[in-house]
Amino acid sequence: MDELTARRARSFGPVAATYDRVRPGYPPDGVSWLLEEAAAAGIARTGRRRVLDLGAGTGALTRDLVARGLDVVAIEPDPHMRAVLEARVPRADVRAGSAEDLPVDDGEIDVVIGAQMWHWVDVDRATAEVARVLRPGGTLGLLWNLRDERVEWMAELGSVFGGDDVHYRRAADVSLPAGAPFTATAARDFRWSQELAPTDIVDLVATRSQVQVMADTERSEVLARVGDFVASHPAVAGRGRIVVPYVTSCWRATRI
Ligand SMILES: C[S@@+](CC[C@H](N)C(=O)[O-])C[C@H]1O[C@@H](n2cnc3c(N)ncnc32)[C@H](O)[C@@H]1O
Repeated sequence: MDELTARRARSFGPVAATYDRVRPGYPPDGVSWLLEEAAAAGIARTGRRRVLDLGAGTGALTRDLVARGLDVVAIEPDPHMRAVLEARVPRADVRAGSAEDLPVDDGEIDVVIGAQMWHWVDVDRATAEVARVLRPGGTLGLLWNLRDERVEWMAELGSVFGGDDVHYRRAADVSLPAGAPFTATAARDFRWSQELAPTDIVDLVATRSQVQVMADTERSEVLARVGDFVASHPAVAGRGRIVVPYVTSCWRATRI
């Protein structure tokens, strides 16, 4: 991993509270789709399913997993993100760790889910760790919220702040190392939306890693441009709440 990517992977802590307030959660039908393969395999029918939320951040997905009655271990390397996560989702078992070094015993997890994070990992090491902690028949599920640029103002917003870049993956880009012990890979997209106040769009852009690693002056300029956009674009300006459209790109595979 190059130095800039490593900096970006570690860039979320300073904006943890904002991140928690404005970043979207995940569509329930997409999360159900990721979980269903493990259910179909009859995993851990005798007890509650044990799910590991990888790079859990402030708990955008963790909350949903806990609400489903799952036993959730939430792994997060950043102490600021972890502090918000612990406060927001007290029923999760929150642990410091990373995808490459999971503080979990061999084979004790039924489902590993990573939301908006697999592009930050060392894929060889993370795949080996996930394979180690998953039971045979368990699921690895990955998902990304992508701004739905089929909606005109979302496409325009992207051009204002520079849009997504090569670090931003989607299910179609997932590739496990040759010989990794996984089978039955599948991918599916889910369309959904979140509601925000127009001014939250500036904060939403501010939580992006590519903006976080900018020099202060450049970051201020970019965010000022986004502020102007929000204040002037007819689809956004002056509205109480706006619908922010996403496509959630989901990918799953079964541990052999
Ligand atoms: C974009 S945030 C996503 C957080 C959360 N999953 C969500 O959906 O909101 C990426 C998270 O991955 C974490 N992260 C970065 N590198 C990681 C790694 N190697 N292993 C696990 N998590 C990592 C970051 O600290 C950050 O909390």
